[in-house]
Amino acid sequence: MFRLDGRIALVTGAATGIGQAIALALASSGADIVITDRRLEALAETESQVLGYGRRVLGVAVDVREQEEIRRCVATVEESFGPIDILVNNAGINRPAPAHEVTPEEWDDHFNTNVRGGFFMAQLVATGMRRRKWGRVIFISSQSGLIGIPGQPVYCATKGAVIQLVRSLGLEWAKDGVTVNSIAPTFVETNLTRKRLSDPAFRSFVLRKIPKGELAMPEQIGAAAVYLASEEASMVNCETHRVDGGWTAW
Ligand SMILES: NC(=O)c1ccc[n+]([C@@H]2O[C@H](COP(=O)([O-])OP(=O)(O)OC[C@H]3O[C@@H](n4cnc5c(N)ncnc54)[C@H](O)[C@@H]3O)[C@@H](O)[C@H]2O)c1
Repeated sequence: MFRLDGRIALVTGAATGIGQAIALALASSGADIVITDRRLEALAETESQVLGYGRRVLGVAVDVREQEEIRRCVATVEESFGPIDILVNNAGINRPAPAHEVTPEEWDDHFNTNVRGGFFMAQLVATGMRRRKWGRVIFISSQSGLIGIPGQPVYCATKGAVIQLVRSLGLEWAKDGVTVNSIAPTFVETNLTRKRLSDPAFRSFVLRKIPKGELAMPEQIGAAAVYLASEEASMVNCETHRVDGGWTAW
């Protein structure tokens, strides 16, 4: 079960952290992988690890805030690598700031990266998926889209928007064999969170909120992505799959 042989997956923000773990999980399940991130050089480590699984890999520099870069990437991949079956919209930023400090520029950067980039990537990739009558679109949302967290209102709003997008896109594309889902992780220690989690008070707040008392591991997010990308998950649509150890059940 859950094999992805013969499939091509594109993962955004795949240089590091959760995106890298997802790319490796999909590769270990048999998919060929297109890895994208803002800088091509940053993808070298993920690229060599995907090759280690014996899969084909293509690295492409894409800033998901740039419509023209997204368009060029999808066209190049579909012409020279093959049709994209699985899209993982993982690229994201979080620069926590309390509401009274948020500037319009910070608001726009968060929404352009976390919401707009994923939407237009999905719009372009789904065109081919719908024609071919098979596709999986997976967004990495967050538990922050389901609950509030003080000190990061803009990030929470972007992830709530992603969860709503998933519902609507999944309804629009279901008849064409395309499912759209998201994965909502709790805290994972990555470049995004390392500084905050190194504060003992914040770390202990987080660990107290997670009933299991542990952070999530990037590989656990990768495993959820493999499931949602699989044939077996064809009836899972418009869903936000929590990998939060129970935080959001409180
Ligand atoms: N780490 C966590 O605790 C956590 C929890 C829930 C959700 N998430 C989400 O998971 C995703 C990955 O987060 P992570 O923790 O691995 O972060 P990370 O900072 O380690 O990795 C994010 C990657 O996205 C890339 N990226 C950022 N902006 C980009 C842009 N405009 N265009 C292309 N690439 C861009 C970065 O270069 C980086 O490689 C994000 O969407 C994040 O919001 C993370």
